[in-house]
Amino acid sequence: GGVHERERHESGHKHVTGTAEYIDDIPEPAGTLHGYLGLSERAHAEILSIDFGAVSASPGVVGILTADDIPGENDVSPAHKHDDPVFATGKVEFHGQPIFAVIATTRDAARRAAAKAKVEYRDLPHVTDVLEAEAANYPLVVDPLKLERGDIEAGFTKAKHVVEGEMRIGGQDHFYLEGHISFALPGEDDEVTVFASTQHPSETQHMVAQVLGVASNAVTVNVRRMGGAFGGKETQANLFAAVAALAARKYRRAVKLRPDRDDDMIATGKRHDFHVGYKIGFDDDGRIEAVDAVFAARCGFSADLSGPVTDRALFHADNCYFYPNARLRSRPLKTNTVSNTAFRGFGGPQGMVGGERMIEDIAYALGKDPLDIRKLNFYGGEGRNLTPYHQTVEDNIIGRIIEELEASSDYAARRQAVLAFNRGSQVIKRGIALTPVKFGISFTKTEYNQAGALVHVYTDGSIQLNHGGTEMGQGLYTKVAQVVADEFQVDIDRIKVTATSTGKVPNTSATAASSGSDLNGMAAANAAQQIKGRLIQFAAERYGVSEADVAFEPNTVRIGAERLPFAELIKSAYAVRIQLSAAGFYKTPKIHWDRAEGRGRPFYYYAYGASCSEVSVDTLTGEYRVERTDIIHDVGRSLNPALDLGQVEGAFIQGMGWLTTEELWWDAKGRLRTHAPSTYKIPLASDRPRVFNVRLADWSVNREETIRRSKAVGEPPFMLGISVLEAISMAAASVAGYRIPPRIDAPATPERVLMAIERMRAAA
Ligand code: MTE
Ligand code: MOS
Repeated sequence: GGVHERERHESGHKHVTGTAEYIDDIPEPAGTLHGYLGLSERAHAEILSIDFGAVSASPGVVGILTADDIPGENDVSPAHKHDDPVFATGKVEFHGQPIFAVIATTRDAARRAAAKAKVEYRDLPHVTDVLEAEAANYPLVVDPLKLERGDIEAGFTKAKHVVEGEMRIGGQDHFYLEGHISFALPGEDDEVTVFASTQHPSETQHMVAQVLGVASNAVTVNVRRMGGAFGGKETQANLFAAVAALAARKYRRAVKLRPDRDDDMIATGKRHDFHVGYKIGFDDDGRIEAVDAVFAARCGFSADLSGPVTDRALFHADNCYFYPNARLRSRPLKTNTVSNTAFRGFGGPQGMVGGERMIEDIAYALGKDPLDIRKLNFYGGEGRNLTPYHQTVEDNIIGRIIEELEASSDYAARRQAVLAFNRGSQVIKRGIALTPVKFGISFTKTEYNQAGALVHVYTDGSIQLNHGGTEMGQGLYTKVAQVVADEFQVDIDRIKVTATSTGKVPNTSATAASSGSDLNGMAAANAAQQIKGRLIQFAAERYGVSEADVAFEPNTVRIGAERLPFAELIKSAYAVRIQLSAAGFYKTPKIHWDRAEGRGRPFYYYAYGASCSEVSVDTLTGEYRVERTDIIHDVGRSLNPALDLGQVEGAFIQGMGWLTTEELWWDAKGRLRTHAPSTYKIPLASDRPRVFNVRLADWSVNREETIRRSKAVGEPPFMLGISVLEAISMAAASVAGYRIPPRIDAPATPERVLMAIERMRAAA
């Protein structure tokens, strides 16, 4: 049960048998009330009046909450910009913005009553699209970022070829299985306890306190597990928690708030969609000389996490490639849509898709295999390791990964076979692409890179572990328990991981940026080591041996020639008043970042991977399927190869869904029309690659001193999905003899693929 072993997920058996407790499963105290949000029906409008008459008269209604009921601040802005009201006042800025909440005796009663409010609006002009926002001179929600290195003008002058292009990259709904939910219980005086489905219990605590106008010490936020989060519960849970807590305080009853799936999709933020405009200069071989690109994002009505998201797009626009001269700029644009938020990769995937599109353009311009262009431009070699943000790439292993994947996927021969197949096939065309990933690990906001943990050893030798990280299915609780089991050399079933709580470990960071195990694993190891240190000192004194002669061995402790069961040692240590509990702490070393200068070392290290996908496309309908995908992914020395493989597979599929079938669509009135599984298409089991070979780069060891030399795994493999988009592009390009860059926007829905094919057939 130690580290590096294929330990099963601590709740896996409960997930599949339905016994894992989610917030909606917590037994409700008598008198529990239920809330439901009333949402704006305009994209941008003044609120002239609201008639709540029919709402109040509706059966079961206990009360209505508006901004007037907020004793503290009507704001849950994670960016501290005061631009995220709990309830809109005066005007609404997107279709679906919460205006009020109905509190009733049942959820059904609250939901039915909420629909009865009569809101009178005066419409204002609205903008939902990025380019329209630019044209309308809409403001930016945060300061843009510029990364610059080398001499961009000289680079383009030197370049033999210059290509310009643009691409649209769609957003994505998180589609967690468990939607947003908060359950609040009033306590004594100003106290309140909130069970929230949040990746960021500390921020939820602070936001609830801010809205209630109480100190943070009066608010406790607990989360045992989420039924998926994917970034969608990093900030978006705060509003639900605040409203539930507000109602709990006002009515002094337990209050639960859970939107239905449609409202969850309409009223909470998603992945940012982007428009990328680029210009690349390169030589006859395809070697890049200069890159100039602008990444414009649909941020929605407020800042939320759009700063870090658009920054990370720029940080990953280079992917694995050295840009001798580069200028990358972000445009975090305001729009009258829901405020977009974190989503697996935090803008990195959008940046990387843009970078990979540029590589494809070079390949089509020169009539070469895109993989050759990729390899030619990889970081590595004299003077070719500096990123556009002036961090040196020191741990580059992409060369070895690509080499192994080329061999194991038989890329070269299969590409020839695909080309031959396409010559002989009229309707069905095939495509194959092998794409790399390099993803930076650390929160780009340096202060977030800290964590705490709490370890208790009880007198029976059982261990309770708590840390600031949250469990959303990724297996963090299992990994951190493995680390503690390994420290004490005890079986993992001796350890109980308890629900994350702001009352146990304070001031934690969001479980995000893939950093959960890096940060909390280290903090827990630190706590365990403190207790071990005391036990070693005690044992050495008691038995008259040196501390070096005390060793933790499987479920026993060796003290000189003596061997003691672990529980025995604990009992005798307690008897002489040795402290058997410790709070651990960790902060990531080496990182620093100066945003204004666009310089620093934002990332502690990089995680690498590559995927090779082959698709077949029906050129009469635009429909496609993935015939085969091969993946090699780097997780350093894996803390748990079973969990890591699951993360790699799941992330690839989610990335593929984002780039193929998952399409968000707003109508002219600014209404999101894809707000249910009937219209929003996530990949199904039947969409998985027919052949799916996934391996970890088991030889990889993190050169930095991370927890047991592992690497973060949560987000990086998401971008392995890019190979599917590029393979579809190749199949489409075949209809014009591979001479025209297909430039299919993402998501490459069948309609979009068909239109691209028809466009190319016309041009060929
Ligand atoms: N895996 C599952 N099953 N469910 C999730 O919600 N979220 C992803 C990833 N893997 C997620 C997941 C995201 S966005 C991140 S940042 C990481 O898990 C967070 O967890 P970690 O830091 O412990 O890897
Ligand atoms: Mo992940 S988007 O950092 O929660």
